[in-house]
Amino acid sequence: MKALILSGGKGTRLRPITHTSAKQLVPVANKPILFYGIEAIKAAGITDIGIVVGETKEEIKAAVGDGSKWKAKITYIEQEEPLGLAHAVKISQDFIGKDCFVMFLGDNLIKDGITSLVKEFQKNSPNAQILLAHVPHPEQFGVAELKNDKVVKLVEKPKEPKSDLALVGVYMFDKNIFTAVNNIKPSWRNELEITDAIQYLIDHDFNVHPHIINGWWKDTGKLDDILEANRIILETMQTKVEGKIDNKSKLEGKVVIEKGAEIINSVIRGPVIIGKESKIVNSYIGPFTSVYFGVTIENSEIEHSIILENSKITDIKRIEDSLVGQNAEILKSKSKPLAYRIMVGDSSRVEVL
Ligand code: TTP
Repeated sequence: MKALILSGGKGTRLRPITHTSAKQLVPVANKPILFYGIEAIKAAGITDIGIVVGETKEEIKAAVGDGSKWKAKITYIEQEEPLGLAHAVKISQDFIGKDCFVMFLGDNLIKDGITSLVKEFQKNSPNAQILLAHVPHPEQFGVAELKNDKVVKLVEKPKEPKSDLALVGVYMFDKNIFTAVNNIKPSWRNELEITDAIQYLIDHDFNVHPHIINGWWKDTGKLDDILEANRIILETMQTKVEGKIDNKSKLEGKVVIEKGAEIINSVIRGPVIIGKESKIVNSYIGPFTSVYFGVTIENSEIEHSIILENSKITDIKRIEDSLVGQNAEILKSKSKPLAYRIMVGDSSRVEVL
């Protein structure tokens, strides 16, 4: 069995971060989202992994490499344009060959992994196995309609959903999916939809097995979802302090301080992770915050946020519910006239007091 991770796409819902970077590499609890997927696949015993990449291919290749970090073999498959999930499958036919495969959306996190799901697929050998989860707002997802435990219909973001069962971003297929992706037409948004490809299988009497999962999973395509994923993963950490803490600082709850980090005259209230070579001075870092590497935070309070690498936050009363990009700088203005002075990237959002 092989695996195909989809790591191209437009990432419009996560701009401006995705103007310059791959959303799959945004760290959750200081680990890129994509790495959780690779680890879940490897834990299920699959080592031959294809990664579909788009505009951000260089960044993804630099982060993942040849897969030796995970004792896996990675093949990159370039998608010229993000023309849909089924299009990504279509262009991967040479890589997959006649094998069965798991398709994993590179921005999805599934907490309990996929090992038992892969085993179930291998045991029952359906033509496809889809994962479904009960969600409060099914209209934002691909939705499945079941009859007598069989999938009868799949609809992408329906206005009036017939069930609350959303498609989770992990699918298992045998080679028949290629007949489906080669026979469907692009949708109104000019994408080859995976829901249409699976519907093709259903309509042509292939066996599409639904598996309803009860564990936590997240499509991290939006800021709120990334912050939620960060909360859930941070809570599962164990305290580990490898950096330097001065005797005026206080660590409370689950806190990870990575090598080379320094905490000076500050309060860190977990769950929190502070990355390598980051420096926290005269500050409060509150629950559910991940600070990536090389960050400096001085005279500031931050809670429930993710701060990316090499950013600098100085003299800010309080930041909450935020994602700060790489090399960003947020500081209190000292010069007159007193005013907000900002250089904000395209499609950014800033809330001021
Ligand atoms: P989506 O989140 O559905 O699409 P997107 O990345 O274009 O984001 P947005 O809706 O915010 O514009 O994609 C799910 C995953 O699949 C994600 O990791 C990107 C990847 N993908 C591809 O690799 N190729 C594609 O053609 C598409 C549409 C997505």
